[in-house]
Amino acid sequence: MIQCARKLKQLPPYLFTRIKALTAQAYAKKLDVIDLGMGNPDVPTPPHVVERLMDTVNNHPRTHRYPQAKGMPRFRKAVVKHMERRFGVGLDPDSEVLALVGSKEGIAHLCAAYLNPGDVALVPVPAYPVHFNGVILAGGKVQPVPLRPENGYLPDYGKIPRRVLERAKLIFLNYPNNPTAAVVEDLAFFKETVRFAKKNDLLVAYDNPYCEITFDGYKAPSFLETPGARDVALEFHSFSKTYNMAGWRMGWVCGKKELLAPLEKFKSFVDYGVPTFLQLAGAAALEGSQECVKQTVEVYRRRRDYFVNELNRMGWAVPMPKATMYVWAPLPEPFRAMGSLAFAEKLVLETGIAVAPGVGFGQQGEGYVRFALVTHDNRFYDAALRIKKFFRKHGALPARPAAAREERRPRPRPVEAETR
Ligand SMILES: Cc1ncc(COP(=O)(O)O)c(C=O)c1O
Repeated sequence: MIQCARKLKQLPPYLFTRIKALTAQAYAKKLDVIDLGMGNPDVPTPPHVVERLMDTVNNHPRTHRYPQAKGMPRFRKAVVKHMERRFGVGLDPDSEVLALVGSKEGIAHLCAAYLNPGDVALVPVPAYPVHFNGVILAGGKVQPVPLRPENGYLPDYGKIPRRVLERAKLIFLNYPNNPTAAVVEDLAFFKETVRFAKKNDLLVAYDNPYCEITFDGYKAPSFLETPGARDVALEFHSFSKTYNMAGWRMGWVCGKKELLAPLEKFKSFVDYGVPTFLQLAGAAALEGSQECVKQTVEVYRRRRDYFVNELNRMGWAVPMPKATMYVWAPLPEPFRAMGSLAFAEKLVLETGIAVAPGVGFGQQGEGYVRFALVTHDNRFYDAALRIKKFFRKHGALPARPAAAREERRPRPRPVEAETR
């Protein structure tokens, strides 16, 4: 029998493939599924971006040809202007921006471009899966760096053993964070990271797809704003969440020419880059009014407020996230022992609510589940009711005190018209 590569066998089935399989079981049971599993935005792409794509595809057949792999000048200039306007970060459009087929692709290929077999990558966990799977696919070694709630989900560099640091080449950072929704409020952490990276000769891969999905006045920074960061870091950005373009597969990575060049070279052997008509639509998203981004944030804020308050009211102590479209929830007591995968399975098969089990984001995510706020507002009313019933059935909530009245709380006002 012809065998696939050992490194592929090392990988478990992809997290979202597992979630999809669980959800399929719920559909097979004819349950009314509320899918809060994958962070797949339900709000459509802004109309002016779609129109730009349609116009380009229909009227500019030259854009049907092979694209310029690193990104056309028009696209790279739009990115540079955006990075300058939004973060005050200056970049050279010719050599410091690279278009990506989504930031996931860029991150996986960064590992392939930088890691030799056995090289170590420091991966703060829980993590978005490509941070560790990309390393394994490149033949590297994952060194998990635990992110703990008591430390604001920031890594403690002092706890990484010297012998590990000697072999480490790469560190991932991602704030606002998936799955914990943690943010960086004190930029001293970024300065410490620059010192740590310089001292240990590390490349920082800063993954920043949620920088615009923030609430309550919090504004997410770019790591590249930090003095000295240009010498050690590449930063990944995505159109997926900011502009609800997850299916378009578009992002970019930026940073110093010398750090970017190996990734550009690697990609030149693998893909032809992002189709030109998509790049032009991406430029339209960056250059047009950012009102659409505000509307998207407002949709998530509304869902977050309603849903987290409902969970807290029923006795499930879940923190209110300051950013991202995720709610990171510790398993309530009677379910802790079964673990997050069994809990997620039980929840979807008994209630139809699909969530992401924390363990899918690495062992450090065990004991949690992640809700993605990616379905219509009204479904969160149903979701909260079903969770409350589920908890009662399993004796996870006090018998029935004040909550009795709460169950009759009115369904929130429909907001269909606002939810593009
Ligand atoms: C932290 C993080 N990085 C990268 C990605 C991938 O984004 P893209 O759609 O640009 O590939 C995601 C998607 O959910 C993410 O959560």
